Amino acid sequence: MTQTITVIRGDGIGPEIMDAALYVLDAMRVGLQYEEMDAGMVALEKHGELLPAATMDSIRKNRVALKSPLTTPIGEGFSSINVELRKRFDLYANVRPAKSFPNTKSRFPTGVDLITVRENTEGAYIGEGQSLSEDGETALLTQKVTRRGSERIVRYAFDLARSAGRKKVTIVHKANILKSTSGLFLKVAREVAQKYPEIECNELIVDNCCMQLVMKPEQFDIIVTTNLFGDIISDLCAGLVGGLGLAPGANIGTEAAIFEAVHGTAPDIAGKGLANPCALLLAAGQMLDHIGQPQNATRLREAIVATLEAKDSLTPDLGGTGNTMSFAKAIATRI
Ligand code: NAI
Repeated sequence: MTQTITVIRGDGIGPEIMDAALYVLDAMRVGLQYEEMDAGMVALEKHGELLPAATMDSIRKNRVALKSPLTTPIGEGFSSINVELRKRFDLYANVRPAKSFPNTKSRFPTGVDLITVRENTEGAYIGEGQSLSEDGETALLTQKVTRRGSERIVRYAFDLARSAGRKKVTIVHKANILKSTSGLFLKVAREVAQKYPEIECNELIVDNCCMQLVMKPEQFDIIVTTNLFGDIISDLCAGLVGGLGLAPGANIGTEAAIFEAVHGTAPDIAGKGLANPCALLLAAGQMLDHIGQPQNATRLREAIVATLEAKDSLTPDLGGTGNTMSFAKAIATRI
């Protein structure tokens, strides 16, 4: 059976890494058909808007999108196209795995295998109540945390622990200072945790969590937290295991899910064939899990690891002399 997904090739290095990712997916014969849609600068040039209605309709219809990074031009309405997509489809769970891979020159070449589950729609990123006083001396911002938002993200984290056979969920907060917002998140998280007695649960204040992550990342399994903390923690975790070229992310909602690399359009290397395709490929792995093809997701991840182990055709960010497509081809031969 085939399934149609929306494919957004994006800006900068986007088309190069998407070509590479689709090359590998095609080699795997996972039964996917691609509906290619525009977003970002390409869409602005072709259709006069950053997020054309046809692209939104395609995601709504197919419910699954694989997306390359997009450039948000300054002064074009949205604060970020990605934030806008998350809002429009209510993609409330941002799921970012960080895993040690061989030959990445990272600080933790072994021992890290954790997932950050970040609330993706509320907290400090709601874009409301931002103001600067006339004298330019005082800035304000509104944060919003709801019981519903907290409950569904914590439940998502515990359900993920159950389905992925993970043992522990760490609730990360700052309820000692942010008593209303983080306080509500923690209270609800504790209530939800009680419904999953078989999963170990602990709590950490965000600053301590950052220190623990740098010193002993192997103690973490799944981290669940609010939007701003999750944004920072997930990048910290990407840094532990080798940087942006290996960091995937999934944005999950009830009506749609968008899978992407954590990194941006990398204008400094765009068009040179130097971009590492692994982050998008690992996101494609998350997508395969999501659409009920866990064996293929594992096949893909194992082929990536085998290629890294063999140091075969790796891109320059990993110390290799290969290029985007040679790396993808080396992965495809190990599928
Ligand atoms: P960036 O992630 O594009 O680049 C940061 C550094 O990492 C650069 O030196 C780049 O060459 C390197 N890098 C990134 N991806 C790489 C890859 N796959 N292989 C090898 N090296 C890689 O971040 P930057 O420069 O801050 O942002 C550039 C643009 O991307 C901005 O317009 C920003 O708005 C957009 N952006 C889009 C995102 C998305 O669509 N999800 C996420 C983050 C940024």
